[in-house]
Amino acid sequence: MLRFLTAGESHGEMLMGIIEGMPAGLLIRVTDIDRDLARRQIGYGRGNRMKIEKDQVKIYAGVRWGRTLGSPIGLMIRNKDWENWRDKMSADPMFMNSAEPVTRPRPGHADLAGALKYGMNDIRNILERSSARETAMRVAVGSVAKRLLEEFGIEVMSHVLSIGGVFAKAPKMSLRELRKRAEASELRCSDLDAEKRMMRKIDEAKLAGDTLGGVFEVIVGGVPVGLGSHAHWDRKLDARLAGALMSVQAIKGVEVGAGFGVANRPGSQVHDEIFWSRKEGFYRKTNMAGGIEGGISNGEPIVLRAAMKPIPTLMKPLRSVDLASKKPFRASVERSDVCAVPAAGVVAEAAVAIDLAQALVEKFGGDSLDEMKRNFSQYDRHLKMRIGTEEIPEK
Ligand SMILES: Cc1cc2nc3c(=O)[nH]c(=O)nc-3n(C[C@H](O)[C@H](O)[C@H](O)COP(=O)(O)O)c2cc1C
Repeated sequence: MLRFLTAGESHGEMLMGIIEGMPAGLLIRVTDIDRDLARRQIGYGRGNRMKIEKDQVKIYAGVRWGRTLGSPIGLMIRNKDWENWRDKMSADPMFMNSAEPVTRPRPGHADLAGALKYGMNDIRNILERSSARETAMRVAVGSVAKRLLEEFGIEVMSHVLSIGGVFAKAPKMSLRELRKRAEASELRCSDLDAEKRMMRKIDEAKLAGDTLGGVFEVIVGGVPVGLGSHAHWDRKLDARLAGALMSVQAIKGVEVGAGFGVANRPGSQVHDEIFWSRKEGFYRKTNMAGGIEGGISNGEPIVLRAAMKPIPTLMKPLRSVDLASKKPFRASVERSDVCAVPAAGVVAEAAVAIDLAQALVEKFGGDSLDEMKRNFSQYDRHLKMRIGTEEIPEK
């Protein structure tokens, strides 16, 4: 079983991650993880903190001379701003009361529900962990998961479809081209014309003290038939991936394949007909299902979309009520992101990669990467014989 945990507060000393169950022998490069961390930090419309942070990972366990050992992998990302928060966030009771308690809950955040649930009078005890800062470590863990997927020819990418009601044209290009364009765009959008209009929208929102959300798509290419299972609710791949995406801060809706669009079309326009040829085996001409049928990957690219709500911290303050005095106030104005949809796409890639790596380990798991590859190639051979692209050897 592949599992992971993260720990760390937004202004704490560091973020920590532990990955357990990664096979031995997988090549892990700090530079690859740092590249993904940088991808999470860029994007038009991000706040000032992104400039302070410049995240870098340190691997402190489970990897020797660049390869995993099969033991738990320990990751760490230092918070560059820690010096300014040392006393306020110290674990040592000696520093108690070195910071004013936060008593003003921000609408759209975990502040009020969290303070009530955990019996806190200082909302900082909630907001420090509920913050999307946590996603930095998720991206680092996801980067390691992507490395495993890559060994099996599986690639995860994301691109932005809409921001603040400005929609990109549906891309009609190869996955490789789409990826290239998304990586070159400040908003991770393949449609340059739409990107310009999105930027204008972000500028307008910033001037108005407002924030914007949007929709991004995560596409996974090279997924073999057979990840996930129809046999039980918690093994269904679509359910698991939807859960993984919903676990990303500010994600409020997820679609698989044609998603909500299927509800308004007749069945004849929704289901992907099945064809067969000796060269390709079974294949489809459409992918409305988004690569998953009955909770099992069907060999087509997995296509997922997620809706991100507008950032809840606004320069135009929203109304709220003080936790201690019960007096109404306008939420304090803090510098934060105006729009983080492209970054959320990068976080979502990580969430999806982690879940797919888990499904891959479940199906082909072994103690070492070599063992996993042997299991995979045996399955692949068997599959090719079953679908008729390879002859069954005579006994
Ligand atoms: C990449 C990313 C960056 C975010 N940046 C901010 C931010 O700068 N300010 C803010 O108020 N919320 C930000 N959020 C959203 C909040 O973390 C989120 O809305 C909040 O924790 C409440 O959780 P919920 O929206 O899932 O209910 C960000 C989310 C993501 C994914």
